[in-house]
Amino acid sequence: MTTAAAQPELRTTPPAHAPLIRVERLRKTYKLGRVKVPVLHGVSLDVASDETVAILGASGSGKSTLLHLVGGLDRPDRQVKNYRRCARCGYDMAGLEAPRVCPECACPAPALNERASIVFDGRNVTSLSARQLNRFRARDVGFVFQFYHLLPELTVLQNVTVGAMIRHGLGYASSAADARARAGELLDAFGLGHRLRHRPAQLSGGERQRVAIARALINKPRLLLADEPTGNLDAETGAQILDALADLREKFGLTMLMVTHDPAVAERADRVVRLHDGVIQGA
Ligand SMILES: Nc1ncnc2c1ncn2[C@@H]1O[C@H](COP(=O)(O)OP(=O)(O)O)[C@@H](O)[C@H]1O
Ligand SMILES: [Mg+2]
Repeated sequence: MTTAAAQPELRTTPPAHAPLIRVERLRKTYKLGRVKVPVLHGVSLDVASDETVAILGASGSGKSTLLHLVGGLDRPDRQVKNYRRCARCGYDMAGLEAPRVCPECACPAPALNERASIVFDGRNVTSLSARQLNRFRARDVGFVFQFYHLLPELTVLQNVTVGAMIRHGLGYASSAADARARAGELLDAFGLGHRLRHRPAQLSGGERQRVAIARALINKPRLLLADEPTGNLDAETGAQILDALADLREKFGLTMLMVTHDPAVAERADRVVRLHDGVIQGA
């Protein structure tokens, strides 16, 4: 019997080969005036190239936050000086000034300097400048959101090409033509070739989401981040969107990280992880 045949359909452990994304000890705290809202408490997660991972978790558990950080839409907390974690009980001593003993279990505190990082294909996204981060977002990542986020004044075609225009600069006629051609191909493949001049308001929810997926793929990203992509759709339309994503994965070898409440989405993933109390379980 081969090991492949022995694998269960849904893996719960990450694959052995080098990951496309390696997230380590990621922390995020929102500040509302003087109130601090800690959301992620040290998230670690590896995603292999071509893998599809579904992230489950209660509402408010930080799933969208995690996706935004991985895609460079937001920055994680800056590294805390003297970041320490008790080797015995795991007590988080971030921000404490060099304690001699762990305040929780009173063992001698080890001086660990655990840096948070998001490494994408060998590059540390957390240390990119604002300009480099813009490039990373434009080239390497595509985003799909629950509520589509299409621009209502633009046509379907313009909504899809706008990302390519931003990447290449509006002045390049050839790249504009290339972008239109690729957008046309993607929209054709999604059965929307005859709707290019329509506005988002003239489309159904499922059609809008297909436009949003085409927009996400216009710059041929290696990573697609989808935040509840079927959350606003009925089951049948949601299934069509999942079919479209599965096709794309087959065609382009996309790596996907999807946040969902929908068991149908989780079922189609290679691996399911859970975000709970600010950390990933099962990664
Ligand atoms: N920009 C923000 N400012 C302050 N708090 C935020 C912000 N974004 C999210 N939060 C809070 O962080 C927590 C996690 O939010 P989110 O990542 O959207 O969770 P999920 O996607 O799992 O529902 C929630 O308590 C939410 O209210
Ligand atoms: Mg969310």
